[in-house]
Amino acid sequence: MINLKIISGTDRPNSNALRVSKYVQQLYQKESIDADIIDLQEFPLDKVKGGKYGEDLPAVDDFVQQAVTADGLVVVCPEYNGGYPGILKMFIDYLPFPNSLDKKPIALIGEANGAFGALRAVEQLQQVFGYRHAHIFPERVFISRVSENFDEQEGIKNELQQQLLDAQIGGFPKFIKNVQEEESLIAEG
Ligand SMILES: Cc1cc2nc3c(=O)[nH]c(=O)nc-3n(C[C@H](O)[C@H](O)[C@H](O)COP(=O)(O)O)c2cc1C
Repeated sequence: MINLKIISGTDRPNSNALRVSKYVQQLYQKESIDADIIDLQEFPLDKVKGGKYGEDLPAVDDFVQQAVTADGLVVVCPEYNGGYPGILKMFIDYLPFPNSLDKKPIALIGEANGAFGALRAVEQLQQVFGYRHAHIFPERVFISRVSENFDEQEGIKNELQQQLLDAQIGGFPKFIKNVQEEESLIAEG
């Protein structure tokens, strides 16, 4: 059984990111995959006030550990001011360097009220994950006009976007397996 986590990429209350994350979680459940949501509203921000990088922070370590131990991550990312939310960068910056994202399979879902469904935010995120040597699943999903185009029960109204989401959910577990097999072959020499 793969250990999959879905990161809801904002701390904004009642966010579309969390609604989409819950929907994606249901779709994985239908594939018999239990994926917990890492809700960034719960990031212990009070513990990092003042810039506590490198310090012993048990609450932060426990929180980010959920992603560290995952076999794969699905990141649901909204677009804020043409980029991804600050809390998501904070979360990444408190992930242990260098190993925690090394070879980590990551699938990306953008959602925004704009026409491009957080394309800019997702591409910026890819740059950061690429720097951290993650393996990005190439099949990205962009949910545009999310407030009217998405319903937590029915999914995405735009047929193509829904098809792309279904394809991502169908393909990502296989991608994780392939990455794991390749890594163990490399380790064996
Ligand atoms: C601080 C902030 C900045 C935003 N900037 C953008 C933007 O640059 N482009 C865009 O399409 N939507 C933008 N939006 C609208 C969001 O894309 C929209 O709220 C969407 O649902 C994703 O955010 P959510 O997951 O917090 O609900 C912004 C929203 C907030 C709260």
